[in-house]
Order: sequence, then C-alpha cells, then structure tokens
Amino acid sequence: MKINAIYPGTFDPITYGHSDIVKRAAKLFEHVVVAVAGCPSKKQTTFNLIERVELAQAVLTDLPNVSVQGFQGLLADFVQQCNAQVIIRGLRAVSDFEYEFQLAGMNRTLIPNVETIFLTPSTQYTYVSSSLVKEVAMLGGHVEEFVHPLVSSELQKKWHITNGL
Ligand code: COA
Repeated sequence: MKINAIYPGTFDPITYGHSDIVKRAAKLFEHVVVAVAGCPSKKQTTFNLIERVELAQAVLTDLPNVSVQGFQGLLADFVQQCNAQVIIRGLRAVSDFEYEFQLAGMNRTLIPNVETIFLTPSTQYTYVSSSLVKEVAMLGGHVEEFVHPLVSSELQKKWHITNGL
C-alpha cells in the first residue's frame, strides 16, 4: 500500500532538525509533502511564506520523493487536498508532547481517517528550534551547525537589514 505523508510546520526557517525528520519520513513513505503554514498562530514570522517555501525547497532539493508546498487555512483541509494518509510531526523532548497531543487530537477529530505519526530527530538536534537559531543569528552568532548554508546566509541578510547595514 502506497502511503503519502505530510509534514506541516511554520519552518521559519527550516533547520537541520526539520530536514532530519524529513529524511526519516522520506524513507518510510511513498511521498512526503513538506507543508509550510501561511498564517501560523505565531503572529509575526521572520521570513514570509514565499521565502520559507523557497528555503525549504532549496534545502530539500536532493530528496526525490519530497515536495514543498505553502498552504493557507486549515491543515486538515490541506491534508485532504494532498491525499495524504499520514501527518508527520517531530518530537524533540517531553516538553513538545502536550502541544503535539492536542494538535493530533484535534486533527483526528477533523479528519478521522488520517493518522499522526511522531518521529524523533538525531540527538544532536533535540535542542534546536527556529527561534533559538534566529536569536543566535540576530546577535551575530554562528548558526552553520544548525542550518543549511543558504539559510545561514539569508539570516545574515536579515541581520544586516535589522541593524540598518
Ligand atoms: N527540528 C528543529 N526544530 C523543530 C523540530 C525539529 N525536528 N520540530 C519542531 N521544531 C521547532 C520549530 O523550529 C519551532 O520552533 P520555534 O517555535 O522556535 O519557531 C517549533 O518547534 C514548532 O514549529 P513547527 O514544527 O514548525 O510547528 P508549528 O508549531 O510552528 O506548526 C502547525 C504548527 C503549522 C502544524 C499548526 O499551527 C497548523 O496546523 N496550522 C494550520 C492551521 C490549523 O489547521 N490550525 C488547527 C490545528 S489543529
């Protein structure tokens, strides 16, 4: 049976932790759609939707059964639109669990025929988050260990803009 999966998130920006999850999912499923949310509950994103999609596409370009798409509105609707049977979410630590449990429960109510499956990233990425990477970058720190060189360079550009340089 061919199973398509969807990996939703804000990806503001995509980190090596995210790509670690995508690579694991790509080995398990026929096709993986990385679904970049347009209007996340987080009010302000550093990168707009087009930028976040383009960065994820560039970072994941070597994975033939992975595509990246932006979406607006309800994830449950987009999952059905993509004909996905599985939602992938990453679990880094126990602290992620409560929110993920709520999200999975809500999505199960909205789309009962779709399962949420949790994958864990390599231990070296368990403490990585997009916000922390951005904070380090915006304060002039090195982030090459956590993000693709292209993302690092885009973060540097944002840093220059923020600092009026
Ligand atoms: N590696 C690195 N970081 C990771 C990670 C991993 N493997 N897994 C999660 N994270 C981090 C992210 O970097 C992000 O960090 P930040 O808060 O510092 O930016 C945080 O964990 C969570 O981000 P992400 O995985 O991108 O998920 P999200 O919580 O931003 O996205 C959506 C949630 C988009 C899936 C959800 O809001 C949604 O479905 N929105 C659409 C609207 C909708 O349907 N709402 C109802 C939902 S039931």
